[in-house]
Amino acid sequence: MKALILGSTGYTGQVLIRLLSSHPEIQEVIASSNSKADSLIQEFDPGLSGPGMEKFASTGKRFVSPSKALKLAKERKVDIVFSALPHLTSAELLKDFFNLALVIIDLSADFRLRDPSVFQKAYSHEVPRLDLLSQAVYGLSEWYTEDIKKADLIANPGCYPTNALLAILPAQKMGIIKASVVINSLSGISGAGKKAKENLLFTERSERVVAYNPGTSHRHSYEIQQELENKIFFTPHLVPIIQGMESTIWFELKSGFSQTDIQKFYFDTYANAPFVTIQEKIPSTSQVRGTNRCDISLHFEENHLILSSVSDNLFKGASGQAVQNMNLRFGFDEIAGLPMMGEL
Ligand SMILES: NC(=O)c1ccc[n+]([C@@H]2O[C@H](COP(=O)([O-])OP(=O)(O)OC[C@H]3O[C@@H](n4cnc5c(N)ncnc54)[C@H](OP(=O)(O)O)[C@@H]3O)[C@@H](O)[C@H]2O)c1
Repeated sequence: MKALILGSTGYTGQVLIRLLSSHPEIQEVIASSNSKADSLIQEFDPGLSGPGMEKFASTGKRFVSPSKALKLAKERKVDIVFSALPHLTSAELLKDFFNLALVIIDLSADFRLRDPSVFQKAYSHEVPRLDLLSQAVYGLSEWYTEDIKKADLIANPGCYPTNALLAILPAQKMGIIKASVVINSLSGISGAGKKAKENLLFTERSERVVAYNPGTSHRHSYEIQQELENKIFFTPHLVPIIQGMESTIWFELKSGFSQTDIQKFYFDTYANAPFVTIQEKIPSTSQVRGTNRCDISLHFEENHLILSSVSDNLFKGASGQAVQNMNLRFGFDEIAGLPMMGEL
């Protein structure tokens, strides 16, 4: 199978190159870049070498411009396009790819919000492709599995929404949430992308933790709320790690449900989900770093449930989930090409 990546030099694009180069079902990859068109991939990213890089041979192991990528997608009959571009740029650059018979997985927010007025609120811009919105399937792999298997346009979820929703959705399904849900999330700096911005400098980010954009002032709050019936109160924080995220989530429980039943419901919900594990101990970001996993723990306190959820924003929160969605869509083994073992 043949894959193409748009926005290959960003953090999620670089992870996609790594995952696709070692994916057993992928024979050819075309890496497109606006800023590095025609330059050697390995020169830009020296970490990329060895077996797997021969999959980039059709372009001389070089990045190609987005316009050349479109031409090659037609000529070489590419099966899948991953867009790792910023929102709005993504829908714009994908414009001509929508006319080709291929599957598109968009890592940006352009197709995630089903209600165009919500997109307008969250992104202060009208939704870029209203005409395609109804075709897009929200790519939260464990919860939209059957839709993903049939979709030609998959809106890969955001990193915070993936991390929080995987923990909250079983509770919603079981009907145990009494009122609002409080979500406090911590993210590594790569969640902001590879932009040269003053507030992302090492000196501005190291040795400190800061909350930002609480409530609906963060765009991802709309995406999380879209999937939930109860009102959420979401506060993200930036922490001085490169990648990884943790959410501490709590809500009051409706009466009539035992801890044992709730725990069993969580275990059963993810019993056949290879990447989501209910842990006995509170999980740490290090145990899922570089993997497509999301590890979740439950703690009961009086009539409240406190959930801890960890994932890697660049893997389960972005490129890993995108590859998982490709696996589901094309009927491959769900875990094909995806790392499972966390770091020490
Ligand atoms: N970082 C995360 O943890 C994360 C998690 C989930 C989802 N996402 C989403 O995934 C997408 C990519 O995120 P990222 O963190 O990888 O971003 P990034 O590091 O900022 O990279 C984005 C890439 O897009 C290309 N690009 C940027 N502006 C462009 C323009 N005007 N025209 C053409 N190409 C342009 C650039 O690559 P080229 O020059 O190579 O084209 C750039 O390297 C975003 O929509 C983001 O919201 C990110």
